[in-house]
Amino acid sequence: MGAAGDKRAALEALRAEAVRALSPLLTADQTQVVFGAGDPASPLALVGEAPGPQEDRAGVPFVGPSGELLERVLRELGIARDQVWITNVVKVWPTRRQGRSRRTRPPNAAERRASRPFFEREMAIVRPRVLVLLGGTAAQEVLGRRLKVNEARGRWFETHLGAPALVTFHPSYIRRLQGMDPARGDRALAAFRDDLREAARRAGLVGEG
Ligand code: URA
Repeated sequence: MGAAGDKRAALEALRAEAVRALSPLLTADQTQVVFGAGDPASPLALVGEAPGPQEDRAGVPFVGPSGELLERVLRELGIARDQVWITNVVKVWPTRRQGRSRRTRPPNAAERRASRPFFEREMAIVRPRVLVLLGGTAAQEVLGRRLKVNEARGRWFETHLGAPALVTFHPSYIRRLQGMDPARGDRALAAFRDDLREAARRAGLVGEG
């Protein structure tokens, strides 16, 4: 088995362990544990916050509207989604009831704490050359401190995961901004594209051109 095959096997075992450990914490409103996906031998890992409702149903990260935006920008850069490793720091959908519907809320401390060892072990297996931290929660979990994404985006940080990390906007923030203020939304999208391009170059996934 090659390096990618070894990583896949190790990740499958870790996924099964995460499912065993985290499933008992699921409420009736959550479907399943959502683990990372993509190419485990990729030099580039994209790290989000937590699954949303579509991801909770599919069991795959970034398959809802945020994922569509992310995939579109990757495609514009000549990168297919299955060329990168895509994951979240929190492995279950943080949800709350509002009347009869279920809403997404920020992940709480218990969800972060329970997911953290699995995220860290996942990164130790994938060992990407470069991380992209999508939004404040991913940045806080990986860097161990709160920072303002508006100030930190486009900047590189050293991490304890053996790879440098670039902080950028979360796709859902860009989508919200596009709805509220299209000009600011477009600027944020352009900055996001620049950030992903820079990270992909540093990872060696795309050329300098
Ligand atoms: N937002 C995230 O942070 N992760 C997902 O998987 C989907 C939406």
